[in-house]
Formats: sequence, structure tokens, C-alpha cells
Amino acid sequence: MAYEKICTLDDVWEGEMKSFVTKNGTEVLVIAHTNEQIVIVQNICPHQEIKLSKKGNLSEDGVLTCTAHLWKFNSSTGKGINPTDCKLSIYPSKVDNNDIFVNINGIVPEKSHS
Ligand code: FES
Repeated sequence: MAYEKICTLDDVWEGEMKSFVTKNGTEVLVIAHTNEQIVIVQNICPHQEIKLSKKGNLSEDGVLTCTAHLWKFNSSTGKGINPTDCKLSIYPSKVDNNDIFVNINGIVPEKSHS
């Protein structure tokens, strides 16, 4: 599978994040950083698989916190901040004109169960 259009730049305002569902039913979280960087990550927290679109909070400095148990992630890289041995899968993305595309091919959401 190749890139597919997931939403437009008008759908996610700078500094915000919103979930969308791909054609095969994968939920992804589109993060629009204030520096215009678009990052698309898995929409489930690796800890206990709660949806980040419901429990996630994005701070101005780009820290994505799952408010269920306060796991924190770098929303640009997906790397865990606390704890550090976890991460979010990042899906390749690109922007063409006003459209945002995602490629979910071969990428599996991270799970921890710890
Ligand atoms: S489910 Fe996200 S921190 Fe526990």
C-alpha cells in the first residue's frame, strides 16, 4: 500500500492533534506542530492501549502526554520521555498542497503492556 490522503491542513490546526482512520481501519494521530511540521503517530498509547486522541495532551514544547498514567513522548520523534524505554510508531507522511498523506505500510503500533 502506498500513501493515502488522510486529511487536509485545515482539519488539524497548528499546535493540535486529531485522529483519523485509514482505508484499512488503522487509527492514526495527526500532529500539527507550531513550526508547521506534520507528524503522524499511532493513536494508541503503548502502555495500555488507550486512545491518545482521547487521553493525549500536547504541550507547547511538543511533549505528548497520555493523561491516563502520565507516560510522555516526544511528539516529533515518538521517543519515550518517561519512561524512556517506550516509543510511538511514526508513519511516513507528506504534505501536497493542502492535503496530508500517510503511509501505514509495514508499520505496527508499539505495545508495552508494562
Ligand atoms: S495508557 Fe497511556 S499512560 Fe497508561
